Amino acid sequence: MGILKVFFNNTRKPEGLLGRCMVGSMNHAHAALADWGLRHLPETGPTEIAELGCGGGRNIRALLRKYPVATVTALDYSKISVEKARSVNRKGLQAGRCRIIQGDVSHLPFENSAFDLVTAFETVYFWPGPTESFREVYRTLRPGGIFLIANESDGENSQDDKWLSVIDGMRIFNQIQLTTFLTEAGFSEVIVKRNTKKHWLCALAIRENTGHLGNK
Ligand SMILES: C[S@@+](CC[C@H](N)C(=O)[O-])C[C@H]1O[C@@H](n2cnc3c(N)ncnc32)[C@H](O)[C@@H]1O
Repeated sequence: MGILKVFFNNTRKPEGLLGRCMVGSMNHAHAALADWGLRHLPETGPTEIAELGCGGGRNIRALLRKYPVATVTALDYSKISVEKARSVNRKGLQAGRCRIIQGDVSHLPFENSAFDLVTAFETVYFWPGPTESFREVYRTLRPGGIFLIANESDGENSQDDKWLSVIDGMRIFNQIQLTTFLTEAGFSEVIVKRNTKKHWLCALAIRENTGHLGNK
């Protein structure tokens, strides 16, 4: 495998020395997209948040700042990502406002209806399913809860084929495909925002508020 391929495969699961370099650089490289995605969320509200595929943990800190009374539970299946996210969020950890654990999004180690917001930045390209993984998100969201996906690739940019050639197992979804997977997973409403110039995509999937606790 060429060195470029070895390096870029660390976006899927950071490992070893190159993985350490990758998680640090992703914190900077994805910041503008993440901040754009976060702007689509309500200004106040969420108090229990899950940040999935958290990588180097920059967005845990952004969520803690945006929602000063919230706690954030972050998860990533890469040991390197978890270590970096812990070091970036030392203050939040010490304050008891976040926890960062190793795990796979397809088997979330969380109770039903545990969160009112779940976020996923630049990560669903790699998720098993992804309908099965989205079902897990749905299960762990409270009725009325929001699942935010923010992707730098909206599936409409032919330039993105270069990523598919260097990152094994990556899949880039367009608006229609993502909406279909989210609907199959149970979400009753999916709102998609796009920055067509940059080919960014943000999906807000809402778990229906049934007005009763039957799904707890
Ligand atoms: C491209 S990085 C994005 C990291 C971060 N969200 C950001 O925006 O900078 C993708 C991250 O998703 C994680 N990831 C991919 N598939 C996963 C899975 N099935 N379960 C948990 N984490 C996963 C990877 O380990 C990696 O840290």
